Amino acid sequence: MSDQRHDTRFDRFVDSYAERTKGMRVSAVRALFAVANRPEIVSLAGGMPNIKDLPLESIASSMGQMVAENGTQVMQYGSGQGELQLREQILDVMALEGIQAHPDDIVITAGSQQGLDLVTRIFCDPGDVILAESPSYVGALGTFLSYQAEVVHVAGDDDGLDPEALRETSRRLKAEGKRIKFLYTIPNYSNPSGVTQPLERRRQVLEVCEAEQILLVEDNPYGLLSLDADPVPAMRSLDQNVIYLGSFSKTFAPGFRVGWVLAPHAVREKLVLAQESATLCPPVFSQFAVSNYLSNHDWKHQITVFKDMYRERRDAMLEELAEHMPDGATWTKPAGGFFVWVTLPEGIDSQAMLPRGVDARVAFVPGAAFYADGGGARNVRLSYCFPTADRIRLGVQRFADVIRNELEVMSIFGVHVSPTHLRRAPGPGPNLS
Ligand SMILES: Cc1ncc(COP(=O)(O)O)c(C=O)c1O
Repeated sequence: MSDQRHDTRFDRFVDSYAERTKGMRVSAVRALFAVANRPEIVSLAGGMPNIKDLPLESIASSMGQMVAENGTQVMQYGSGQGELQLREQILDVMALEGIQAHPDDIVITAGSQQGLDLVTRIFCDPGDVILAESPSYVGALGTFLSYQAEVVHVAGDDDGLDPEALRETSRRLKAEGKRIKFLYTIPNYSNPSGVTQPLERRRQVLEVCEAEQILLVEDNPYGLLSLDADPVPAMRSLDQNVIYLGSFSKTFAPGFRVGWVLAPHAVREKLVLAQESATLCPPVFSQFAVSNYLSNHDWKHQITVFKDMYRERRDAMLEELAEHMPDGATWTKPAGGFFVWVTLPEGIDSQAMLPRGVDARVAFVPGAAFYADGGGARNVRLSYCFPTADRIRLGVQRFADVIRNELEVMSIFGVHVSPTHLRRAPGPGPNLS
């Protein structure tokens, strides 16, 4: 192994990269990881599920047995569509949200992230438009941009996507001669907003999609993590033309990288071809491991264990926000999932505030990461999935203090002091860029 790290600043291939790499962005969340993982910092930034309550010993023993008895099958290449046994079990998972389907309409993917990639790959040419909620999942935006699609955000409210805004946006784009390929939505406990579309809203959105001939892609990794009431029926359960993305990352464990796409038959065929060219077949060992877990463990009970844990953490975050946040800040009240979306008092820029947050030993994700069009400057995503309730309380108190300090600075200087303002300051000084 060479002990010299090659420096990418002198990249001799810089003129050779494909155009599509220009849309690839460093994930804001990943960039934050290095600091956020320091023990003195309370990280309300990452979206890692807390899987320490899984019955690890019994999972280890049944997986050990699986390898001993079926190793030559579970460690072999498999089908491009994914293992039938797992696809049949996925039907039981989706039935909990009202979806009825056939195992042949499912393609297994390496997490729902790969589902997003394959769907974009088969539908989008450069310049095609993808409609997305406002705000939307940073990982999806990254995928869309890497295929050189244009992301147009559609306004929403506390009930998610606004159907009238969807209709108006669709008509405007069509009048401009743009090609809309699909609408991407996270109807349950959205990442990052925590907002859920009620049943009536889902129907209205589907009606607009039908009228405007827009394909709908429903991404639902959090649907079974409902913390207050039963899950709302999935959009796919209301309309068979919806492309549905599912995942075991939040209801079991993300490390297996197993998700799936449920799609109308013709689309499913294209997805399998795309999957074969991407990976030959989705990870076989992981699929059998997940299937083994579903067969040998009470996975529905495990979801209730996760829900009790996340509920305690969500409640801790909401209580603390209510007690400590200054006037002028608002935030969503998620009924499930992992995230709260904060709107800061007028004039505060969340990106500029981040270094001061880290200084005060709290990490969060500035809202701009969740927009493809420069929005989100006044927003922050807070996550309650990973730290304990006590750490969450401490983190929110620190977060509220940071905002209060920003307000104080604004009241003294009249503007929010961002690194951009500091850079523009005349005279010599440290290079703050
Ligand atoms: C909305 C959403 N979609 C997709 C994913 C990707 O999940 P995975 O690839 O682990 O299934 C995530 C992960 O956080 C997510 O929040």
